[in-house]
Amino acid sequence: MKAVILVGGEGTRLRPVTCLNPKPMLPLMNRPFMHNFISWLMSHGLKDIIFTACYLPRPFIDYFGKGEKFGIDIAYETEKVPLGTCGAVKNVEKYLKGSGQFMVFNGDILSSLDLTDMINFHKSKRADITISLTSVEDPTAYGLVPIDSEGRVREFLEKPGRDQIVTNLINAGTYIMEPRILDLAPAGKNYSFERGLFPAALEKGFRIYGYVSSAYWLDVGTPEKYLAAHHDIGLGKIEFDYPYPEIEPGIYGGTNVSYNRESFSKGPVVIGDNTVIEKGAKIEPLTTIGKNCHIASGARLCGCVIFNNCRIGKGSQVSGSIISNSVTLGNDVIVEGCSIIGDNTQIKDGNILKNGIKININSKIVRGQIFF
Ligand code: GTP
Repeated sequence: MKAVILVGGEGTRLRPVTCLNPKPMLPLMNRPFMHNFISWLMSHGLKDIIFTACYLPRPFIDYFGKGEKFGIDIAYETEKVPLGTCGAVKNVEKYLKGSGQFMVFNGDILSSLDLTDMINFHKSKRADITISLTSVEDPTAYGLVPIDSEGRVREFLEKPGRDQIVTNLINAGTYIMEPRILDLAPAGKNYSFERGLFPAALEKGFRIYGYVSSAYWLDVGTPEKYLAAHHDIGLGKIEFDYPYPEIEPGIYGGTNVSYNRESFSKGPVVIGDNTVIEKGAKIEPLTTIGKNCHIASGARLCGCVIFNNCRIGKGSQVSGSIISNSVTLGNDVIVEGCSIIGDNTQIKDGNILKNGIKININSKIVRGQIFF
């Protein structure tokens, strides 16, 4: 079965980390998010992949090429203007004609959904469309999909008010479709599945089913959820193939990592190639450090994600926050509370960045400038 992966969004909610890096290629435990995603698809026999790109397409092509290194086939289509979730799939219809039902994936979900079982469900129901559904505690920010006792979709409720909540099942961003469904979508226009094609198909009487799963599922679209993805993997909530061997119990390290054992209390911690952790630095659990980084003595890192080529100065502390590529923190800088530092930024000594503050790419924050 062919799989279309939607990777063309701008990822605005994750700015500034998505200013230079497309969301599905952001690091997840030091490997591109899409690497783990492709492994998930491959484990269910999906090896014929079509990437629908738009915003920053190059990193996908550079990393995956035609898929030969992974033993799969990858085709790319890059939209000149964003066509929306359904418009992007309509735009690759030529790859899907004549090969039967196909799957569509939002490219920003971390999930262990059993795709094989979902495909069997789709076939057994003789569905035109099957939508994976997951339950969430607060469904108000999502599209709700109530189903009947047979699993057939009754209606689509986009971002409902509190009084409209009839189910906590939401669209989990993975679909199986019969090719004729795409006849309902306009070509070359921005069109969405959630607000366009799905309600239109329901109205016309197509057989739309919801496949309910309690498998791990997270839409990695916000800074909080991007960090949560790392923490959940570290806590073992989803099976994950770490990119490196354990160099100490619970400490996964690449080649040429320089460290002292006393820097770690316990894992999990992930450290990229050639990173230096000076004696006297403290690396607490659920921390990921990229490659070619330098963590100075007296620095303390906890539950944070640090990309490649970063320098963390003496006595600086980073907790529950994201530091993008090639960032330098001076001495005694504090970054906490889901704050984000954009690529190529310098934060001089003594700044205090907290409460979800976002520092744009290529910034230079002078000594002691921010402290509230
Ligand atoms: P936000 O701007 O933060 O909402 O993120 P986003 O742009 O990624 O949008 P959203 O999370 O709603 O997108 C869900 C999935 O669809 C993601 O994998 C996006 O990359 C993808 N996507 C969204 N819009 C488009 C589009 O116009 N074209 C393509 N090819 N993919 C899209």
